[in-house]
Amino acid sequence: MIKRLWAKLGLSSSPTAESLSSENIPVHVAIIMDGNGRWAKKRGLPRMAGHHSGMKTVKRITIAADRLGVKYLTLYAFSTENWKRPKAEVDFLMKLPQQFLDIELDELVSNNVQVRMMGSRDNLPPHTINALEEAISKTANNTGLVLNFALNYGSRMEMLDAIRDLAKDVKDGKLAPGDIDEEAMSERLLSSGLPDPDLLIRTSGELRLSNFMLWQLAYSELWFTDVYWPEFTEKHFYEAIGQYQRRARRYGGL
Ligand code: FPP
Repeated sequence: MIKRLWAKLGLSSSPTAESLSSENIPVHVAIIMDGNGRWAKKRGLPRMAGHHSGMKTVKRITIAADRLGVKYLTLYAFSTENWKRPKAEVDFLMKLPQQFLDIELDELVSNNVQVRMMGSRDNLPPHTINALEEAISKTANNTGLVLNFALNYGSRMEMLDAIRDLAKDVKDGKLAPGDIDEEAMSERLLSSGLPDPDLLIRTSGELRLSNFMLWQLAYSELWFTDVYWPEFTEKHFYEAIGQYQRRARRYGGL
């Protein structure tokens, strides 16, 4: 009763999974995991400690999303722009998928989670690709939550590749210019086969998309929090979903 009242007022009490409507769970949640570095700095720790702690949040939120019945969880782990960081940090970030999967893969397999990767394999070190390929192949037949790592991902790069592919098909006479529609574009993006995100979450107080899923987020609900990714908990996740459930999605209609 109290919770409903809070919700009516647009306020969030301390949300729990049970306070959410099971009818309206977002099918696809995408997250820009930001603030690892600032979290570490605030504690006088090296930036890497922030990334390491962020990896634990990945586990926490994967479990929470799975329990709620989210079908797709896309996590922005490394952008095409992140190569500009100091080499030591890039090297560290490139080790995280392997570290994470070394510990978690068996549990992901037994929990029916399917691992995917969305990004360019170019320039990724072999140990990163191998760890991901192993996880992708071992979980390929799983039918539960799809855990999609956006790694070496950039939306403009992805769209340019898709446009080049469309142009080639037109040049080769396989496609008429008039037949280029949203479907033709979507199926050439790295997210092909995934529905567009219903909800985008970005942590750490930054209010921008940072070249993330620019095409796919056209009608997504956006939710921002000041909380840094390493301290993002299930409660924050439920809060985001509670907000999502209180919004009216009109897709440009009335
Ligand atoms: C942005 O925060 C975060 C990243 C570039 C890396 C995100 C990676 C993880 C959370 C771990 C990924 C785990 C797996 C399993 C792949 P930032 O470091 O730029 O933070 P800042 O803006 O505070 O400096």
